[in-house]
Amino acid sequence: MLNIAVVGCGYWGPNLIRNFNSLSECRLKSVCDTDPERLAHMKMLYPSVITASEFEDLVKNPDIDAIVVAAPVRYHYEMAKKALKAGKHTFIEKPMAQSSRECEELVDIAEKHKLVLMVGHTFVYSKPVRKIKEIISSGELGELQYISARRLNLGLFQKDINVAWDLAPHDISTILYVLGKDPVSVNCQGKSHVAKGVEDVTTMTLNFANGAFGIIQSSWLDPNKVREIVFVGTKKMLVYDDVEPIEKIKIYDKCVEIPPHYDSFGEFQYSYHYGGMYCPYLKLVEPLKVECQHFLDCIKTGAKSESSGLEGLEVVRILEAASASLQDGGGQVAIRYSAINTAQTA
Ligand SMILES: NC(=O)c1ccc[n+]([C@@H]2O[C@H](COP(=O)([O-])OP(=O)(O)OC[C@H]3O[C@@H](n4cnc5c(N)ncnc54)[C@H](O)[C@@H]3O)[C@@H](O)[C@H]2O)c1
Repeated sequence: MLNIAVVGCGYWGPNLIRNFNSLSECRLKSVCDTDPERLAHMKMLYPSVITASEFEDLVKNPDIDAIVVAAPVRYHYEMAKKALKAGKHTFIEKPMAQSSRECEELVDIAEKHKLVLMVGHTFVYSKPVRKIKEIISSGELGELQYISARRLNLGLFQKDINVAWDLAPHDISTILYVLGKDPVSVNCQGKSHVAKGVEDVTTMTLNFANGAFGIIQSSWLDPNKVREIVFVGTKKMLVYDDVEPIEKIKIYDKCVEIPPHYDSFGEFQYSYHYGGMYCPYLKLVEPLKVECQHFLDCIKTGAKSESSGLEGLEVVRILEAASASLQDGGGQVAIRYSAINTAQTA
């Protein structure tokens, strides 16, 4: 039986706590937060849990096998480093850390200590995203031309990171997982309207070596909750709407056919193909539950997680390049790859 501790009982931590508490192969041993009210609330919900106001208490406790970091992003690196150095398997919420250098160091420490290091790229564990990968890999959409992702809502404003670092990790990790490819460069533009210097609206473009590209729009300043990714292929188009309760994926038999030969402009006509639409059946399960179970499975089997430190590092590298582009007014910034990826993914 694995003993789990969770640090951070704010907005997201309680979802992780609830899921780990529900899994039979682990015991929720301890929760930590600097806010006594949050701790008291957790104690009321889970009376047998040990509460701690100091993160060090989790690190020092020899009974704890794994630590889950759901504290604000500025603490991810320090907490994960302490946890790994104390021999605890570590799960860090997205984004993994504030810089690729920090992520690389965490990947190294986990490797050296032979510990599981996993990042909370929740959507990689969702049924719709798994199905989309299957559909795209089967070639049903034809050649992928572009992807357009929109993740918009009103709030929740973060103080230590901008909206791209907060929301885009979900879209970036989904796109990388579905395509199985890393982009070569990124462009990003954005504006801060509410808190000076913290962009609340951003648009990012991921450029891939084969010419495909992905546009990611992120906003904390929108009247509607939008969670949509559109995949446009040469044969068909797929819309993934995560706000939709049941029919989350729709595949449209729509495309534009360009005539192969024509002699004069008068003969030139695009052929618009309007076919039907279908929604594949998806047996929905809470992605976070699958993700938490996957963390336990990786600890038990020693398997590499599908959202390991390397995937976390990749997302942070893209965010870093996006921030450089943002500073530069939206210019194209190449993504820096280092030996750590080529050595470990070869
Ligand atoms: N996977 C997802 O879908 C998802 C969704 C939302 C948030 N998140 C991630 O979860 C993490 C937490 O986000 P949130 O929205 O819950 O933030 P939050 O601010 O609501 O909660 C953070 C909690 O950490 C506590 N805390 C702060 N400093 C601490 C310290 N030094 N020691 C112990 N506790 C401390 C705070 O008191 C607070 O209760 C972030 O990394 C965020 O990106 C992930």
